[in-house]
Amino acid sequence: MSSIKISDRLKNVLRSATRVTVFTGAGMSAESGVPTFRGVDGIWKKFKPEELANFDAFMKNPDLVWEWYKHRKQIITDIKPNAGHYALAEMEALYRKFSIITQNIDNLHRRAGSKEIFELHGNIERNYCVGCGKFYENQEVTEQKRAPHCPACGGLIRPDVVWFGEMLPADEWNGGVEASEHCDLFFSIGTSAVVFPAASLPQIAKASGAYVVEINIEQTDFSARADEVLIGKAAEVLPVILKISKELISQK
Ligand code: OAD
Repeated sequence: MSSIKISDRLKNVLRSATRVTVFTGAGMSAESGVPTFRGVDGIWKKFKPEELANFDAFMKNPDLVWEWYKHRKQIITDIKPNAGHYALAEMEALYRKFSIITQNIDNLHRRAGSKEIFELHGNIERNYCVGCGKFYENQEVTEQKRAPHCPACGGLIRPDVVWFGEMLPADEWNGGVEASEHCDLFFSIGTSAVVFPAASLPQIAKASGAYVVEINIEQTDFSARADEVLIGKAAEVLPVILKISKELISQK
């Protein structure tokens, strides 16, 4: 933990920032046990998700897609937020405005206690009817082995996640862009930063004048454009950042 080097520049920003925005990807949840998408044991390798995570596949074979999501929901139910999620939830109280923009659908930021969260790719704990749009919580539908039908209109119920070829939810995206444009400090954490449009947010923050810090176990396509890159696990680096922020802010 102590080997992580935080620059004086970052300490200054942590002390003076009023608005902090955090952008997270699958690496954020790695220590919780959620497989990343492009890692060696990524979900993608096992399940060919591009064949399953799309609307046509669902309409053609709803039971198969439903079953795959049932499996993914089970993984997520069994895991817990890690020290990184909890550190971010605590940091929210230190700054006037603190926003999380996540590409993760695992709901772990909310379960850790974070309040302002923009979920760009949806949330696997919610579902909705493709016919009438009515929302259903997991406990109302996941027990069913086959894709359930909406009691209100008879339409198929699908997970509330963004599939290949679908637009990001407009409110979440607009909120994420606003939070990226108007922050003093921006963290890009545990994301390979290759999937657009989400991956444009660190670039928007940088172009808008934020100090941009990447936290990842390795360099990414974005690293060269970050102001600072902290190589390490999110669950280890973020508690260090929280500790330093608390110390600096208490001295103000
Ligand atoms: P990826 O699997 O592409 O990238 C995960 C990143 O996390 C990599 O850069 C790893 O080096 C890093 N990483 C792994 N373990 C880490 C740790 N313990 N601490 C810090 N970093 C770690 O996942 P995403 O960038 O989230 O979209 O993928 C983005 C989107 O691609 C996903 O949201 C998904 C997929 O298509 C949809 O489902 C719509």
